Amino acid sequence: MSDVTAPVGADRDFARIAAQVEPIARTIMAQYPNGNVRSALIPVLHEFQNVEGWVSPEAMALTAEWIGEPLSVVESTASFYTLFHRRPIGRYMLQPCRNLSCLINGAGDVMRHFRDRLGIGHLQTTEDGLFSYEEAECLAACDRAPCMQVNLQFVYDLTKEKVDEMLAAMRAGTYDVPPLPQSVKPGRDWSVASATDKKSPGAQGVSHPNDPGGLGDASGVRMIERLTKTPYPVEVRPTKERLVADGAARLAAPPSSQSEH
Ligand code: FES
Repeated sequence: MSDVTAPVGADRDFARIAAQVEPIARTIMAQYPNGNVRSALIPVLHEFQNVEGWVSPEAMALTAEWIGEPLSVVESTASFYTLFHRRPIGRYMLQPCRNLSCLINGAGDVMRHFRDRLGIGHLQTTEDGLFSYEEAECLAACDRAPCMQVNLQFVYDLTKEKVDEMLAAMRAGTYDVPPLPQSVKPGRDWSVASATDKKSPGAQGVSHPNDPGGLGDASGVRMIERLTKTPYPVEVRPTKERLVADGAARLAAPPSSQSEH
């Protein structure tokens, strides 16, 4: 039986957490010699998440230091994937898929059922800190739709009955997937800061970056309308990112000289 009521780390000590992760991170980084240590970024973030239940700002900063990359590279990688949780979350992270194959096979009913049973919506956490809920994009398991991830482990062929059984087992501490550690008590809204003036052109006009999408949400339709009706306003921003900085030179080089990269 899993302890889903284990105390939250009120005395969170990041130095201790870092000391726990560092030997594992060093082993991972050693697998990418010859200047390729950047490739260890994702597995190192996973190690922090395994220990804390989320990827904290301190964890991202230390990862950047260890692999010798700017913090912006680490943050942009962590923010790209729903696999990484950048806010403290519940013991169980529930991520049903909201994309086409799953919707055709009943994901709408499943998502509605989750929301009813949990009393929360997209990117929220229950009051007791047990469940966080996020409707995710295609999880690449369309042949077993509707599907979801629970603490990043796949659950297939969802039905409302299966959801009830799952939630009951999680509350009882008997579910197959173990609960996450929880170094910090999560808030109700698990969301990222809004920067509405900094959105990509396609996302402008969408009310909020945490717009839940899925059921009844029109943001995708509005985005397509915008892209088809107006010229795409490409804005070139200077960057020191090396693949962008020398990208033009690489494209201009003959194919034989590119194979080594
Ligand atoms: S649409 Fe749900 S896994 Fe692909």
